[in-house]
Amino acid sequence: MKKVHIKSFGCQMNVYDGQRMADILSHQGYEETATPEGADLILLNTCHIRDRAVQKVYTELGKLRDLKIEQKANGQYTKIVVAGCVAQAEGAEIQRRQPAVDLVVGPQAYHRLPELLAQTGRVVDTDLPIDDKFGYLPAPKPAAIVARGISAFVTVQEGCDKFCAFCVVPYTRGAEFSRPAAQVLVEVERLAAAGVQDVTLIGQNVNAYHGEGPDGAVWGLARLMQRVAEVPGITRIRYTTSHPRDMGDDLIAAHRDLPQLMPFLHLPVQAGSDRILAAMNRKHTGDEYRRLIDKIRQARPDIALSSDFIVGFPGESDDDFEDTIKLVDEIGFASSYSFKYSPRPGTPAADLRAQVPAAAMHERLLRLQERIEHHRQAFNHAMVGRTVEILLERVGRHPGQLAGKSPYLQAVQIETQANQIGDRVQVVIERAGSNSLFGRKAGPEDLAAKDLATKELAA
Ligand code: SAH
Ligand code: SF4
Ligand code: F3S
Repeated sequence: MKKVHIKSFGCQMNVYDGQRMADILSHQGYEETATPEGADLILLNTCHIRDRAVQKVYTELGKLRDLKIEQKANGQYTKIVVAGCVAQAEGAEIQRRQPAVDLVVGPQAYHRLPELLAQTGRVVDTDLPIDDKFGYLPAPKPAAIVARGISAFVTVQEGCDKFCAFCVVPYTRGAEFSRPAAQVLVEVERLAAAGVQDVTLIGQNVNAYHGEGPDGAVWGLARLMQRVAEVPGITRIRYTTSHPRDMGDDLIAAHRDLPQLMPFLHLPVQAGSDRILAAMNRKHTGDEYRRLIDKIRQARPDIALSSDFIVGFPGESDDDFEDTIKLVDEIGFASSYSFKYSPRPGTPAADLRAQVPAAAMHERLLRLQERIEHHRQAFNHAMVGRTVEILLERVGRHPGQLAGKSPYLQAVQIETQANQIGDRVQVVIERAGSNSLFGRKAGPEDLAAKDLATKELAA
C-alpha cells in the first residue's frame, strides 16, 4: 500500500472533501497516514477565507518541500498536492511560489484526482465544471466510515450566490448548486448502515438548498431533512451554514416538528449596524435578524443559537461596533465565532478606502469576544441541574469517562463504565467547566422531573 497524508484547513466543507479524496485514493491503493513523514502523497486541503489562512498554507508548503528533499535522499519520491480554496484562487501563484508542488486541484475538480496524479510534470486543474463532481465520487469503504465515528458531514449544497462584499467563497466554490435529494439519501443510508447516527447536512448556504426531488419537484432543505430523518439509524440531524435570508417558514417549522432535528442553529449575522450590513451586502438589517430569531424561538424555545461576526469592516465606526455589541447582548448566543476583517483580493470590500486601523480592530475583537464568552458561559451554566440526552461518541479524557454531545452541541463528559459509544443516555448535568459540561447518568427521579418540566414547557 502507498501512503497518503491529508491535512484539511478551513470549514466543514473541506473536512468532507478531505474524506472524499481519501475515499478516491483508497481505490488507487493509498492508505491514510496521520503524519506527513513517510507519506508518498501529501495533500493540503486549503482555505482562502482570511489572509492568515493562506499564509499558513505557504508556511506548511515550505516545511513539506524540506521533507520532500529529505525523503528523496532516502530514495522515496513524495508528491505534493494542493487542493481546496487556495488552489482555486491562486493556482498559478502556488506553482510559482513553491516549485515542490506537483499538482494543484480545485474543490470542483478533485473527482479527477486519479487521472491528474497519473500525469507527469506539474499540473493545475481549477475548472469549475458544469457537471457536478458528486456523481463521480466512489463510495467510502465501510471500514473507513466506521473509523470516522458515529457523526458525519454530508455536503448537500455547494457554492454561493450571495456575494457578501468581504467574502471569497462565491469565487472559490463557484455558483450555488444543490445535489439531487435521492443522491443525498443514498449517501446517508450508506453512512447509517455503517453505524453513523448523527448527520450534519452542510453547504456554504445550506438553507438555500433546492435540490431535485425523486418526484421531479424541487425540494427545500426542510423536506430533505424529513426524509433523512426516516433513514433507519439516524437519530440526530443538524445543518450548517445558513443565511438569514433563506430561513423559510417550513425550515423554522421543522425545528418544532421534526424530533431528530437538534435544537441548534448557526445563523451568522456578521454585524449589528444596518449601515455596515448594507455595505457588506448582507441583504438583511439587524431588526430583520432579531425578528427572525423571535420566530425561530417561538418554534423551538430552547434552541441554541450561534453566529459569525466580523469586526473592523471598512468604515465601521465606534457607534457601528456598539450596535454589534447591543445585538450580541440582546440575543444571547450560545456560542459564536468572531474575526478581524481581512481584505481579500478580488472582493469589492478590498477596494474600500476607509480601512479600520489595526489597533481599533484589535480592541473591538477583544471586547466582542468578552461578550460572546459571557453569553456562552451563561448558556452552559443554565444547563446545570437539567437532564439531557447525550449521544456518547468517544472515550473521555480520563479512564472511566465517556464523551459525547448534548442536543445543543455542547461537549459533555460523563463517568460511566457500562455505556457504550453510540448509546444515547439521559444525563444530569452537574457542572459546567470552561469547555465541557460534566454529568452523571440520570436516575428514575431525574427522569420524572424532566417529564414534568417538558409538560410545563408545552403547557
Ligand atoms: N457560508 C457561510 C460561511 C462563510 S465563511 C456564511 O455565509 O456564513 C465563515 C465566516 O468567515 C463568515 O461567516 C465570516 O464571518 C468570516 N469571513 C468571511 N470572509 C472574511 C473576511 N474577508 N475577513 C474576516 N472574516 C471573514
Ligand atoms: Fe460568503 Fe456571504 Fe456567501 Fe456566506 S453568504 S459564503 S459570507 S458570500
Ligand atoms: Fe475556507 Fe473555502 Fe471553506 S475559503 S471557509 S475552505 S469554503
